[in-house]
Amino acid sequence: MTEKKPMRIALLGLGTVGYGVYEYIRDREDMVVACAMSLVVPDDVTCPIVKNIEEIFADSSIDTVVEVIGGLHPAYEWVSGALKAGKNVVTANKLLIARHYRELVSLAKEKGVALRCTAAAGGGIPWLTSLSHCVQQEPVVEISGIMNGTTNFMLDTMHTTGGSFDAALKQAQRLGYAEANPADDLNGADVRRKLVISSNIAYGCVIDEADVSTEGIEHVTDADIVSFRSLGRICKLIAESRKLENGVAAFIEPSLVPPSMPESAIPENYNLISLVGEHIGKQSFYGQGAGRYPTAYNVLQDCVDILGGVRCFYTDRLDAVSVDNSAVLRTYYVRTNGSDRWLQDKTDRVLDCGLITKPVSVAEIHAWAKQRRAADPDCFIASLR
Ligand code: HSE
Repeated sequence: MTEKKPMRIALLGLGTVGYGVYEYIRDREDMVVACAMSLVVPDDVTCPIVKNIEEIFADSSIDTVVEVIGGLHPAYEWVSGALKAGKNVVTANKLLIARHYRELVSLAKEKGVALRCTAAAGGGIPWLTSLSHCVQQEPVVEISGIMNGTTNFMLDTMHTTGGSFDAALKQAQRLGYAEANPADDLNGADVRRKLVISSNIAYGCVIDEADVSTEGIEHVTDADIVSFRSLGRICKLIAESRKLENGVAAFIEPSLVPPSMPESAIPENYNLISLVGEHIGKQSFYGQGAGRYPTAYNVLQDCVDILGGVRCFYTDRLDAVSVDNSAVLRTYYVRTNGSDRWLQDKTDRVLDCGLITKPVSVAEIHAWAKQRRAADPDCFIASLR
């Protein structure tokens, strides 16, 4: 019997996730880090360090490029260059995949190589692979859940220990959960990218990230948390999308969940992501959504799938689609300094801190909150579930 040659990997990035990937591969015989590119190289890394990406593109002995540098540039040039050179690509880069989805998926298909990004959504949960298996047999009509470890950690800490927003953020950063720019965690941009990738795979479409209405938790205060407690609810940052007859609804917002919803019990940096299949109903996926080893684990799982013969993206359906959140109605907690005519019309009852609205559409209240911040930059909204 001839022995299978090990997968030869060029590892782009030796930071929090990249070093985790390096450690995992070091212990394996079926794959090897043939070389790495990184601005910072930990002392115990022994593979050759390459300075010029063109060397990797030109090296026919390298079959797979793992990109864990994050950000758009040079990740875009490096990933598209690797695909053009006929190499499989594994990436954890949600910004890159969400922004250049159509182009990169098409390029991988044209070249007949694998493009996998399981670590880009759900951290260490095999969410994207499970979702892609599901859609091969079952129409998915809805996706929802907690998709950001940093903000879940922060909200959980603020609810359970009464810790401050700033202290909780610092701790999440120390634990390696937050993005290089944590504003992307706090304002929901990180979740938005994960929802775009997940929805694209689920519905076989290409959603423009700019169309996904997003409210984050950057304006939540200790006083809001006290109000949520008095309502008997827990605040979670929740992403949702659903298939409509023509298009999709897709949005991200802080949501006040009752103890009866499983999302209320999700601790620390964990994520809980659910799909609804037309015949199978709801399936949920739970695990650590951020951190070195959970994320590196999913990168490795993608490499294992490639070793097993995968040579594609999760789907090759790229239908154009429009986003419409006007039919989803919710009641909302709103906290703003002062008021305006719209809010007065929509107010159902006033709390010690904040108020509760009558049912309004997601599209309408998200648009209102954005314009309200001209008068009150700290205005905060959260839907009641
Ligand atoms: N900053 C991200 C999070 C990392 O907290 O979920 C994992 O994608």
